[in-house]
Amino acid sequence: MKVTAQIKAPIEEEMELFEKKFYDSMSSQVALLNRITHFVVNRKGKQMRPMFVFLVAKMCHDGKVNERTYRGAAVIELIHTATLVHDDVVDDSNQRRGFFSINALWKNKIAVLVGDYLLSKGLLLSIDHDDFDLLKIISKAVRAMSEGELLQIEKARKLDITEDVYLEIIRQKTATLIAACCAMGAQSVNASEQEVARLTDFGQAIGMAFQIKDDLFDYGSARIGKPLGIDIKERKLTLPLIHALNQGSPTEVRWLMDALKNYNTDRKRVQQVIQKVRDLGGIAYAEQKMKFYQSQAIKALDHYPDSPYKASLLLMIDYVIDRQK
Ligand code: IPE
Ligand code: IPE
Ligand code: MG
Ligand code: MG
Repeated sequence: MKVTAQIKAPIEEEMELFEKKFYDSMSSQVALLNRITHFVVNRKGKQMRPMFVFLVAKMCHDGKVNERTYRGAAVIELIHTATLVHDDVVDDSNQRRGFFSINALWKNKIAVLVGDYLLSKGLLLSIDHDDFDLLKIISKAVRAMSEGELLQIEKARKLDITEDVYLEIIRQKTATLIAACCAMGAQSVNASEQEVARLTDFGQAIGMAFQIKDDLFDYGSARIGKPLGIDIKERKLTLPLIHALNQGSPTEVRWLMDALKNYNTDRKRVQQVIQKVRDLGGIAYAEQKMKFYQSQAIKALDHYPDSPYKASLLLMIDYVIDRQK
């Protein structure tokens, strides 16, 4: 059995129902919006965030979930989708999930509005059902994501990022949402405050590993359904490059900085940068850091007795590191 099927086995029923609810949650009276949301639903992603919501809820509550858990999962996936639609505008990316991005097909204006629409639909799903405790968790994550993306832009302009700032950026833009998934799962079944906090830490750790992996993809050659080398093009300095800049000789650093400043859209030069980063040990370093967060995530689950849900969460941790897209 494929590892993703193995992970989903204890939440199969929930994921099936989730898909229907997720689809319904997007509906609109506006024909253009409906056409686009239809497009979005048909190109679904890995759905890791709802999987975290259900697995954590079931682990905390003897294998039981409730309507709040379903709504929590739908809210998170709506907000995740909204941020991807906006992120592709911000990163000027024309590909997503193996096909054209919304901005590539309908232009930036429409992508911005569709992202806003999905965000509002997510928030209203919580509000309409008085899930204010869940709304608080998710709203904080949305705030962190916007701050993280803006900090990233600021650093891309100045090209003065350090490893600590990089870690702060990925915590805000990615780990916080995955932490919110785990917190929501626990909160939806009314877990104790202490338990919600513990699972938030788990989600943070796995979220950090998740974004380091995503940033590593950009330096590789695997077909991942989105453009490669785009981070360098956008002058996003991620961990492999930050490490290379820390390790390189003054001449190497000067060469790298010149390439980033003046040749970041030159495909051949970007390939040379990638090679240099590899030679300076940047890839190996990022992999090592990713594994550090992986072990933190595993440790965070120590507290829980064995169950099919915990087993799936442990598989998820490995999947985040080993995944092909
Ligand atoms: C992409 O997230 C955005 C990041 C935080 C790196 P996913 O890799 O989970 O995207 P989908 O939903 O599977 O397409
Ligand atoms: C994650 O960073 C962006 C969000 C938090 C939405 P990236 O810009 O690297 O994500 P991808 O690679 O476009 O999916
Ligand atoms: Mg992007
Ligand atoms: Mg990326």
